[in-house]
Amino acid sequence: MTKILEARGRIVRAPESFLDREQIAAVSSGRRDFLRQAMLAAAGATAATAFSEARAEDGDPAILQPQPWSTSLGKPVASAPYGMPSKYEKNLLRRESPGLTRVSAASVSFTPLQGLFGIITPSGLHFERHHQGWQDVDPARHRLMINGLVRTPKVYTMDDLMRLPSVSRMHFIECGANSAMEWGNVAVPTVQYTHGMLSCSEFTGVPLSVLLEDCGYDRKNGLYVLAEGADGSSMTRTIAMERALDDVIVAYGQNGEMLRPENGYPLRLVVPGVQGVSWVKWLRRIEVGDQPFGAKDETLHYIDLMPGGQHRQYSSIQEAKSVITTPSGGQTLVGQGSYAISGLAWSGRGAIRRVDVSVDGGRNWRTARLESPVLSKALTRFSLDWVWDGSPAILQSRATDETNYVQPKAAQLRAVRGTRSIYHNNAIQSWAVAASGEVSNVQVG
Ligand code: MTE
Repeated sequence: MTKILEARGRIVRAPESFLDREQIAAVSSGRRDFLRQAMLAAAGATAATAFSEARAEDGDPAILQPQPWSTSLGKPVASAPYGMPSKYEKNLLRRESPGLTRVSAASVSFTPLQGLFGIITPSGLHFERHHQGWQDVDPARHRLMINGLVRTPKVYTMDDLMRLPSVSRMHFIECGANSAMEWGNVAVPTVQYTHGMLSCSEFTGVPLSVLLEDCGYDRKNGLYVLAEGADGSSMTRTIAMERALDDVIVAYGQNGEMLRPENGYPLRLVVPGVQGVSWVKWLRRIEVGDQPFGAKDETLHYIDLMPGGQHRQYSSIQEAKSVITTPSGGQTLVGQGSYAISGLAWSGRGAIRRVDVSVDGGRNWRTARLESPVLSKALTRFSLDWVWDGSPAILQSRATDETNYVQPKAAQLRAVRGTRSIYHNNAIQSWAVAASGEVSNVQVG
């Protein structure tokens, strides 16, 4: 029993290059025991009995020893007025990729996908992408203006906005540059860096359509809107009116509370299915126009270099994509036996219909379980049971969305897009499992 429980352990060692010495010690010494205990809690009483008997036979009397937390008075309520994770979870952090950008204010921090469950990203672990740093904007002084081709231009306070009818919906946000470092043959070590410009939250706010109606947008000539942020980067993006009226939200809420400052407090645009750059943070202005605005963030930046020297502008939708988060790069399997392969799938065109998983580099595929809820333009958790026989394996996942679009292999994507792109890399990700159990990032086909 001990062996099986150990073998089901998910993360036993993290890659050292991205951890400081204290973190390495914590991860490599404590993780095994911790995982055993977590498995135990999850497995319930029957397994717990079997486990404790097994440990007793092994000569580990831990289960029989009274622990301080069972024999002393706990801390009072509200001694942590805003609850924080356990001190034993201090390694689960968003992290900056060393050397990725020259200035930290114009950079990225990545979500630690390898350590998360389900589909919701805790707000404090939501990835960050700022062009000119983040600000803690005073909501009392923040305004949203709607102007351009409207009957009545208006300026809204936060109080005005929060009196209007609201919606709450779960959506993923993925930066168009997610997995950018995988376009060539450069392979970064962990899923946090390959796919961690990805998060999913429940967002709350006013449908943009309500505000456009309120201002009387020009139904004939108002074909586009421009969204503008209040930070120093003057982030601006054009959005087609059809999409703006569909499911775009002017959001102030994230996972049941106000947005975090790093994610646009007090107001950001939520543009479901569309690359992160259009989700303008610290949103201060919406202008209605009759043509695309040709802003710097859509004509110079965030363009896709194609083969033959051409480039694509105004690309927006994040096509179907998936990644196995456990086991994934930098982790080590602790022995042969049963593992639950687990990962995330998403599509900017709607719901995920199916995820297939291969353990032999794409020769054979099995259909994974989709865990509920399976929502449109949200992350979907999938899992598949796997018995590892100790021989080298290559793990892959392949998503199909409700339009029947199938996530491509890297070679298929490169055949169309070339190798000079940065954005919109939705290729199948491969993780190689060595006989030692070590998992690493490899590029296959
Ligand atoms: N909005 C403003 N005002 N300033 C920015 O720098 N970055 C954009 C977008 N909105 C940005 C912005 C980019 S490139 C992305 S990927 C997302 O915000 C990231 O959102 P997050 O930091 O909440 O993860």
